[in-house]
Amino acid sequence: MSKLLYIQASPRGNRSYSIAVADAFVEAYRTAHPDDSVTTVNLFTTELPPFDGFALNAKYAILQGQDHTGEEAAAWKAVESVIEMFTSADKFVFAVPMWNFGIPYRLKHFIDVIVQPGYTFSFSPEEGYKGLVTGKPAFVAYSRGGAYPPGSDTEAFDLQTKYFELFLGFIGFTDVRRAVVEGTLSGPEAAEMARAAAVEEAKKSAQSF
Ligand SMILES: Cc1cc2nc3c(=O)[nH]c(=O)nc-3n(C[C@H](O)[C@H](O)[C@H](O)COP(=O)(O)O)c2cc1C
Repeated sequence: MSKLLYIQASPRGNRSYSIAVADAFVEAYRTAHPDDSVTTVNLFTTELPPFDGFALNAKYAILQGQDHTGEEAAAWKAVESVIEMFTSADKFVFAVPMWNFGIPYRLKHFIDVIVQPGYTFSFSPEEGYKGLVTGKPAFVAYSRGGAYPPGSDTEAFDLQTKYFELFLGFIGFTDVRRAVVEGTLSGPEAAEMARAAAVEEAKKSAQSF
Protein backbone atom coordinates (compact mmCIF):
# COMPACT_ATOMS: atom_id res chain seq x y z
CA MET A 1 0.00 0.00 0.00
CA SER A 2 1.44 3.37 -1.04
CA LYS A 3 1.01 6.71 0.70
CA LEU A 4 0.17 9.59 -1.62
CA LEU A 5 0.68 13.12 -0.33
CA TYR A 6 -1.40 15.80 -2.08
CA ILE A 7 -0.19 19.35 -1.46
CA GLN A 8 -2.41 22.27 -2.50
CA ALA A 9 -0.79 25.72 -2.84
CA SER A 10 -3.91 27.68 -3.80
CA PRO A 11 -6.25 29.28 -1.24
CA ARG A 12 -9.14 29.36 -3.74
CA GLY A 13 -10.79 26.04 -2.87
CA ASN A 14 -13.28 24.90 -5.49
CA ARG A 15 -12.63 28.00 -7.64
CA SER A 16 -8.98 26.97 -8.07
CA TYR A 17 -7.90 25.66 -11.47
CA SER A 18 -4.77 23.94 -10.18
CA ILE A 19 -6.80 22.16 -7.47
CA ALA A 20 -9.48 21.13 -10.00
CA VAL A 21 -6.82 19.47 -12.17
CA ALA A 22 -4.95 17.90 -9.24
CA ASP A 23 -8.28 16.68 -7.79
CA ALA A 24 -9.07 14.96 -11.10
CA PHE A 25 -5.66 13.29 -10.97
CA VAL A 26 -6.17 12.14 -7.36
CA GLU A 27 -9.69 10.86 -8.06
CA ALA A 28 -8.44 8.81 -11.04
CA TYR A 29 -5.52 7.58 -8.93
CA ARG A 30 -7.87 6.50 -6.13
CA THR A 31 -9.99 4.51 -8.58
CA ALA A 32 -6.89 2.78 -9.94
CA HIS A 33 -5.37 2.21 -6.46
CA PRO A 34 -8.25 1.84 -3.99
CA ASP A 35 -6.01 0.47 -1.21
CA ASP A 36 -3.57 3.39 -1.20
CA SER A 37 -3.91 6.25 1.28
CA VAL A 38 -4.20 9.90 0.27
CA THR A 39 -3.34 12.75 2.65
CA THR A 40 -4.32 16.25 1.53
CA VAL A 41 -2.53 19.32 2.89
CA ASN A 42 -3.58 22.83 1.90
CA LEU A 43 -0.66 25.15 2.66
CA PHE A 44 -3.00 28.11 3.25
CA THR A 45 -4.79 26.37 6.11
CA THR A 46 -1.85 24.43 7.57
CA GLU A 47 0.40 26.07 10.14
CA LEU A 48 4.07 25.84 9.24
CA PRO A 49 6.87 26.55 11.72
CA PRO A 50 8.44 29.98 11.18
CA PHE A 51 11.78 29.62 9.45
CA ASP A 52 13.75 32.32 11.19
CA GLY A 53 15.83 32.84 14.34
CA PHE A 54 16.47 29.56 16.10
CA ALA A 55 15.43 27.36 13.15
CA LEU A 56 17.86 29.18 10.88
CA ASN A 57 20.66 28.93 13.45
CA ALA A 58 19.88 25.23 13.79
CA LYS A 59 20.27 24.77 10.03
CA TYR A 60 23.65 26.54 10.02
CA ALA A 61 24.77 24.53 13.06
CA ILE A 62 24.11 21.32 11.09
CA LEU A 63 25.97 22.68 8.06
CA GLN A 64 28.94 23.55 10.30
CA GLY A 65 28.85 20.26 12.22
CA GLN A 66 27.96 21.94 15.52
CA ASP A 67 25.51 20.87 18.25
CA HIS A 68 22.17 22.62 18.72
CA THR A 69 21.41 24.78 21.74
CA GLY A 70 18.18 24.00 23.65
CA GLU A 71 16.21 26.64 21.72
CA GLU A 72 17.64 25.52 18.39
CA ALA A 73 16.79 21.89 19.14
CA ALA A 74 13.18 22.84 19.98
CA ALA A 75 12.81 24.87 16.77
CA TRP A 76 14.40 22.08 14.76
CA LYS A 77 11.92 19.52 16.12
CA ALA A 78 9.06 21.42 14.45
CA VAL A 79 11.03 21.54 11.18
CA GLU A 80 11.74 17.80 11.43
CA SER A 81 8.07 16.96 11.86
CA VAL A 82 7.17 18.74 8.58
CA ILE A 83 10.05 16.98 6.81
CA GLU A 84 8.87 13.63 8.22
CA MET A 85 5.33 14.29 6.98
CA PHE A 86 6.80 14.94 3.51
CA THR A 87 9.44 12.21 3.23
CA SER A 88 7.20 9.48 4.65
CA ALA A 89 5.04 9.68 1.50
CA ASP A 90 5.70 7.41 -1.49
CA LYS A 91 4.05 9.55 -4.19
CA PHE A 92 3.33 13.25 -4.50
CA VAL A 93 0.72 15.45 -6.15
CA PHE A 94 1.00 19.25 -6.12
CA ALA A 95 -1.48 21.97 -7.13
CA VAL A 96 0.65 25.03 -7.93
CA PRO A 97 -0.67 28.42 -9.15
CA MET A 98 1.58 31.07 -10.68
CA TRP A 99 1.92 34.16 -8.49
CA ASN A 100 4.03 37.00 -9.83
CA PHE A 101 5.72 34.64 -12.29
CA GLY A 102 6.79 32.33 -9.49
CA ILE A 103 4.99 30.31 -6.83
CA PRO A 104 2.73 31.38 -3.90
CA TYR A 105 4.62 32.43 -0.77
CA ARG A 106 3.14 29.65 1.37
CA LEU A 107 4.67 27.07 -0.96
CA LYS A 108 8.03 28.87 -0.79
CA HIS A 109 7.76 28.76 3.01
CA PHE A 110 7.10 25.00 2.83
CA ILE A 111 10.13 24.54 0.56
CA ASP A 112 12.32 26.58 2.93
CA VAL A 113 11.25 24.29 5.79
CA ILE A 114 11.77 20.93 4.07
CA VAL A 115 14.95 21.53 2.05
CA GLN A 116 17.47 20.61 4.73
CA PRO A 117 20.94 19.06 4.69
CA GLY A 118 20.98 15.46 5.81
CA TYR A 119 17.20 15.14 5.36
CA THR A 120 16.24 15.94 1.79
CA PHE A 121 19.68 16.60 0.29
CA SER A 122 23.31 15.92 1.15
CA PHE A 123 26.59 17.59 0.30
CA SER A 124 30.11 16.23 0.19
CA PRO A 125 33.17 17.72 -1.53
CA GLU A 126 33.56 14.45 -3.46
CA GLU A 127 29.98 14.09 -4.66
CA GLY A 128 28.64 17.66 -4.44
CA TYR A 129 24.89 18.01 -3.79
CA LYS A 130 22.73 14.91 -3.86
CA GLY A 131 18.95 14.71 -3.51
CA LEU A 132 17.76 12.23 -0.90
CA VAL A 133 14.08 11.96 -1.90
CA THR A 134 14.61 9.34 -4.57
CA GLY A 135 12.57 6.74 -6.40
CA LYS A 136 9.29 8.60 -5.86
CA PRO A 137 7.06 10.05 -8.60
CA ALA A 138 5.46 13.50 -8.57
CA PHE A 139 2.56 14.98 -10.52
CA VAL A 140 2.21 18.77 -10.65
CA ALA A 141 -0.92 20.65 -11.77
CA TYR A 142 0.13 24.20 -12.68
CA SER A 143 -2.29 27.07 -13.31
CA ARG A 144 -1.68 30.59 -14.50
CA GLY A 145 -3.70 33.54 -15.71
CA GLY A 146 -1.52 34.22 -18.77
CA ALA A 147 0.17 31.92 -21.28
CA TYR A 148 3.87 31.06 -21.35
CA PRO A 149 4.24 28.44 -24.11
CA PRO A 150 7.67 27.07 -25.05
CA GLY A 151 9.31 29.15 -27.75
CA SER A 152 7.09 32.21 -27.10
CA ASP A 153 8.22 35.69 -26.03
CA THR A 154 6.67 35.10 -22.61
CA GLU A 155 8.39 31.77 -21.93
CA ALA A 156 11.20 33.46 -19.98
CA PHE A 157 8.66 34.83 -17.49
CA ASP A 158 7.68 31.34 -16.41
CA LEU A 159 9.65 30.98 -13.21
CA GLN A 160 6.82 28.88 -11.76
CA THR A 161 7.54 25.56 -13.51
CA LYS A 162 11.29 26.27 -13.72
CA TYR A 163 11.70 27.02 -10.02
CA PHE A 164 9.36 24.31 -8.78
CA GLU A 165 10.93 21.58 -10.89
CA LEU A 166 14.42 22.79 -10.00
CA PHE A 167 13.45 22.37 -6.35
CA LEU A 168 12.03 18.88 -7.00
CA GLY A 169 15.15 17.86 -8.93
CA PHE A 170 17.45 19.27 -6.23
CA ILE A 171 15.91 17.06 -3.54
CA GLY A 172 16.04 13.96 -5.75
CA PHE A 173 12.91 13.69 -7.90
CA THR A 174 13.52 12.39 -11.41
CA ASP A 175 9.99 11.27 -12.36
CA VAL A 176 8.00 14.53 -12.58
CA ARG A 177 4.81 14.70 -14.66
CA ARG A 178 2.78 17.81 -15.22
CA ALA A 179 -0.42 19.29 -16.58
CA VAL A 180 -0.70 23.04 -17.17
CA VAL A 181 -3.86 25.19 -17.25
CA GLU A 182 -2.96 28.43 -18.99
CA GLY A 183 -4.97 31.53 -19.69
CA THR A 184 -7.28 31.20 -16.69
CA LEU A 185 -7.78 34.99 -16.85
CA SER A 186 -8.49 35.01 -20.59
CA GLY A 187 -12.27 34.81 -20.19
CA PRO A 188 -14.52 31.99 -18.95
CA GLU A 189 -14.72 30.10 -22.23
CA ALA A 190 -10.98 29.88 -22.87
CA ALA A 191 -10.37 29.08 -19.21
CA GLU A 192 -12.93 26.28 -19.22
CA MET A 193 -11.40 24.76 -22.37
CA ALA A 194 -7.92 24.89 -20.85
CA ARG A 195 -9.21 23.37 -17.59
CA ALA A 196 -11.03 20.53 -19.36
CA ALA A 197 -7.95 19.68 -21.47
CA ALA A 198 -5.68 19.65 -18.41
CA VAL A 199 -8.17 17.50 -16.46
CA GLU A 200 -8.14 14.91 -19.25
CA GLU A 201 -4.32 14.94 -19.33
CA ALA A 202 -4.23 14.54 -15.55
CA LYS A 203 -6.64 11.59 -15.57
CA LYS A 204 -4.53 9.85 -18.23
CA SER A 205 -1.33 10.51 -16.32
CA ALA A 206 -2.84 9.01 -13.13
CA GLN A 207 -3.28 5.61 -14.78
CA SER A 208 0.45 4.90 -14.83
CA PHE A 209 1.45 6.73 -11.64
C1 LIG B 1 -1.20 37.17 -6.11
C2 LIG B 1 -1.41 36.69 -7.51
C3 LIG B 1 -0.41 36.86 -8.44
C4 LIG B 1 -0.57 36.41 -9.75
N1 LIG B 1 0.44 36.55 -10.64
C5 LIG B 1 0.31 36.05 -11.90
C6 LIG B 1 1.39 36.13 -12.83
O1 LIG B 1 2.47 36.60 -12.55
N2 LIG B 1 1.19 35.63 -14.08
C7 LIG B 1 0.01 35.05 -14.46
O2 LIG B 1 -0.08 34.59 -15.59
N3 LIG B 1 -1.03 34.96 -13.60
C8 LIG B 1 -0.90 35.44 -12.32
N4 LIG B 1 -1.94 35.34 -11.44
C9 LIG B 1 -3.18 34.67 -11.87
C10 LIG B 1 -3.21 33.21 -11.41
O3 LIG B 1 -2.05 32.51 -11.83
C11 LIG B 1 -4.45 32.53 -11.93
O4 LIG B 1 -5.60 33.19 -11.43
C12 LIG B 1 -4.49 31.05 -11.57
O5 LIG B 1 -5.66 30.48 -12.09
C13 LIG B 1 -4.43 30.86 -10.05
O6 LIG B 1 -4.42 29.49 -9.75
P1 LIG B 1 -5.65 28.82 -8.97
O7 LIG B 1 -6.86 29.04 -9.85
O8 LIG B 1 -5.27 27.40 -8.85
O9 LIG B 1 -5.76 29.50 -7.64
C14 LIG B 1 -1.79 35.80 -10.13
C15 LIG B 1 -2.81 35.63 -9.17
C16 LIG B 1 -2.62 36.06 -7.88
C17 LIG B 1 -3.71 35.87 -6.87
